[in-house]
Amino acid sequence: MKSLVVYYSFEGDTKFIGDAIAKELEADVLELTLVKEVKSKDYMKTYLGEKQVLMKTEPLLKLYDKKPQDYDLIIIGTPVWSGTFAPALRTFFRLEEIKGKNIAFFYCFTVKAGRVSRRMKKRLRRNDFIGDIGFKDPLKGDKDIALKRVERWVAGLKEYLTDK
Ligand SMILES: Cc1cc2nc3c(=O)[nH]c(=O)nc-3n(C[C@H](O)[C@H](O)[C@H](O)COP(=O)(O)O)c2cc1C
Repeated sequence: MKSLVVYYSFEGDTKFIGDAIAKELEADVLELTLVKEVKSKDYMKTYLGEKQVLMKTEPLLKLYDKKPQDYDLIIIGTPVWSGTFAPALRTFFRLEEIKGKNIAFFYCFTVKAGRVSRRMKKRLRRNDFIGDIGFKDPLKGDKDIALKRVERWVAGLKEYLTDK
């Protein structure tokens, strides 16, 4: 089964988890990056990011060379921004018609994951949703524990797909 891990990461947590999932799954990786990244790393970053969520902004993505249509399993990762997925994913979902795929999500958050999973499922409802998992600021916590959770989660997905 051809697998792709797609993620956007602002400060590295989602990248850390996404790359670990890809390694476990032997999947290709597509990291979404913005033409104009929010530069500010102080308190303004949250304000600017939340404003993008509120305005339903679709920031321009840098060109990428992977096509989700070429894969059977797509794992999608995002930081939680204002209780939902980051605006980069909004752009990606508009650009790519994703349907009839096995889809799983992962997300990184600090306090509250909110509606992120529900929103993702709704946005990708024409697919077979096979799992989701959240990680609380993995780079600030025990990375080994996070990696163990990745291992178990991926093993579960593989088992499910084998039995399917
Ligand atoms: C604009 C913005 C909005 C955020 N909103 C939330 C939120 O609603 N709930 C939450 O638990 N964390 C929120 N966070 C924290 C991030 O989800 C968290 O730090 C995550 O691990 C960052 O992932 P990254 O390093 O891949 O960017 C927000 C962070 C930013 C920058």
